[in-house]
Amino acid sequence: MDRVCIIGAGWSGLAASQVLHERGIPFDCYEAGSEVGGNWRYLNDNGMSSGYRSLHINTSKKLSEYRCYPMPEEYPPFPSVFQMSEYLDDLVDHFGFRDKIAFRTEVTHVEAAEEGGWTVTSRHRDTGVETTRHYGSVMVANGHHWKPRDPEPAFPGVETFTGTQIHSHYYKTPEEYAGKRVLVLGFGNSAADIAVETSGVAERTFLTTRRGGYVFPKFMFGKPADDMISPFLTMVMPREQQRWIMALLLKLSIGSVQDFGLPKPEHKLFNSHPTVSETLLPKLGHGDIGVKPNISHFDGGSVHFVDGSVEEIDAVIYASGYQVSFPFLDESVIAPTDNDVSLFHRVVDPNHDGLYFIGLFQPLGATTVLAEAQSHWVADLVQGKAALPSVEAMAKEIKGYKDSLAKRYVTSKRHTMQVDHYPYLAELRGARKKGAKLARKALKARNKAALKTPLSSDYQPEEVSIRIDAHPDVVWDLISDVTRMGDWSPECWKCSWRDETRGVGAKFTGHNKRGWMRWVTSNTVEAWERGKAFSFHTTTNGVRWGYRLEQDGDGTVLTERWDVSGQSEAQRKRTASFANMMLGGYEGHTAELRAGMTATLERVKAAAEAVERPAAVRELVALEQAA
Ligand SMILES: Cc1cc2nc3c(=O)[nH]c(=O)nc-3n(C[C@H](O)[C@H](O)[C@H](O)COP(=O)(O)OP(=O)(O)OC[C@H]3O[C@@H](n4cnc5c(N)ncnc54)[C@H](O)[C@@H]3O)c2cc1C
Ligand SMILES: NC(=O)c1ccc[n+]([C@@H]2O[C@H](COP(=O)([O-])OP(=O)(O)OC[C@H]3O[C@@H](n4cnc5c(N)ncnc54)[C@H](OP(=O)(O)O)[C@@H]3O)[C@@H](O)[C@H]2O)c1
Repeated sequence: MDRVCIIGAGWSGLAASQVLHERGIPFDCYEAGSEVGGNWRYLNDNGMSSGYRSLHINTSKKLSEYRCYPMPEEYPPFPSVFQMSEYLDDLVDHFGFRDKIAFRTEVTHVEAAEEGGWTVTSRHRDTGVETTRHYGSVMVANGHHWKPRDPEPAFPGVETFTGTQIHSHYYKTPEEYAGKRVLVLGFGNSAADIAVETSGVAERTFLTTRRGGYVFPKFMFGKPADDMISPFLTMVMPREQQRWIMALLLKLSIGSVQDFGLPKPEHKLFNSHPTVSETLLPKLGHGDIGVKPNISHFDGGSVHFVDGSVEEIDAVIYASGYQVSFPFLDESVIAPTDNDVSLFHRVVDPNHDGLYFIGLFQPLGATTVLAEAQSHWVADLVQGKAALPSVEAMAKEIKGYKDSLAKRYVTSKRHTMQVDHYPYLAELRGARKKGAKLARKALKARNKAALKTPLSSDYQPEEVSIRIDAHPDVVWDLISDVTRMGDWSPECWKCSWRDETRGVGAKFTGHNKRGWMRWVTSNTVEAWERGKAFSFHTTTNGVRWGYRLEQDGDGTVLTERWDVSGQSEAQRKRTASFANMMLGGYEGHTAELRAGMTATLERVKAAAEAVERPAAVRELVALEQAA
């Protein structure tokens, strides 16, 4: 099986590595940093992690733990970035695939190879040594939350701003904001966390939101709120009803966001990626964070907002999201403009065989589990247990997905690859099931095609000949003794006549043994002519098989023949299926057959010549004596 290349050892790359490792698929995983974890390694030396010191997962432990490896019982419902790195290290060591990860090794170029598959070039970050290897397929798991997206277009007058500006990607701890007037832009999870944290040390913190949004608590009724997401509810209940129930629960438990000074959201619940925070609303309620609409322009140290208000600001943190980017892939392969990518079920590039993307989605749920499920599907594809539909069918699915996104979500670069946890898991299960069906269909078609080859009009039975230095009668005596068949062909393990009759019409049974297989064949003799021919029809597989003998001086030319032209449809299918499964197709089957026949003839030759030579030697001795 062709080797697979995995790019990245964050949540997604680790899911892929674990699945391939478990399923015995050879792979190499390349990781730019010196440790696993991606965003879930604080101060990761890959230089790409967006994780800050106080980060905790916002999808609960129960929802987020890999299905193959639960989180430790003593972990809290929302573990920290440090606990997550420890968990990921344990996962790698538990399954034992650390040696398959090339650390400090960055993939710099991936291109389609002429002979099929992919050529992957990597560079060791310390030594600078470049390596190029060929792979059958590539699983891209480089993450999509590492390349900051600054506000586009930049706000007017931003170049005049006298304070500091960073993207939330670079935010690690709040100390540098102590005593300052801080403005955090955005209403995603980064903005919520960072505004809460800086408000603890800053003189004043403001949060700007251009369209408002809902805030989901981490806990409801003393339990992680996402424990309430049930597969049944999210898959069976119409979204309007789900929305109604969740709105009611939020109203009863925390009230509306307007109660905390936030604007009324411009969209419905679930139509935007959720902002999850236990602390944002109380902080707003305490007045520790001020709410602002979008920025209108900058003017020196003043920031003007679209409602005409102005604030003096010392530091701006743009929590304006991330860009999807694959620096190692040519733009002609995939060019994600505004985070828009076109992948079949968010995984498969329909236009490039063997190019898969893991974790390239924005889930209402947990990345880990979904990446794990995606990887199982890819493993099916790599192992040939599943196949893909036509490019047109894949394009149709992609269009349907994009249409549904456009209908449901607020138009934003952050809503180009949303998936719902349980429905997406069900979708992947469906893709695997359909893929398996397609693979079976393709195998059947291959079987059919494979057996057409020997049965075409120019079909010739397979024949192999050998010259034996022995009289045809001697050779015939050997090969027509079916009890000795196992001597010539080890495949025929034990053969015996059905009764005492010999000759045309007589029957014998062959017990064949081939590794783990053993079966019984029934043979009817069709040619029985001393010194000339012995052949028969194997009724179980429809093959006509046997020997033709021609005298050649003092010796014999022995020809073995194998003819499948009389096989029934069912017998042909069985042969094709066997040939495809065990021997890589009919050509492999023929090659093995010819090698087997050659070996058989050589054994008969050795046996026949061993019988004949002593007689010849005796004759010579007699002649010499007579002389
Ligand atoms: C602050 C923050 C908090 C988040 N919290 C959650 C959460 O609670 N729950 C959730 O489901 N999602 C969350 N997300 C979404 C996030 O996508 C996932 O947490 C997670 O990081 C995805 O894992 P990943 O492996 O896809 O990407 P990453 O974590 O980014 O890992 C990618 C890995 O690939 C490596 N890499 C990249 N390019 C190359 C290359 N060319 N060669 C070799 N290696 C390379 C990187 O070094 C990195 O280790 C959060 C995101 C952020 C930014
Ligand atoms: N575990 C955690 O607690 C945690 C913490 C942080 C992040 N995360 C995850 O990390 C991922 C990234 O989150 P994120 O918050 O960094 O990014 P994000 O979800 O993409 O949010 C970006 C925010 O910036 C706003 N924005 C973008 N461009 C803007 C502009 N020009 N003007 C005004 N506003 C603009 C967006 O508004 P629009 O919606 O209007 O476009 C949105 O509110 C998400 O999956 C998130 O769940 C998780």
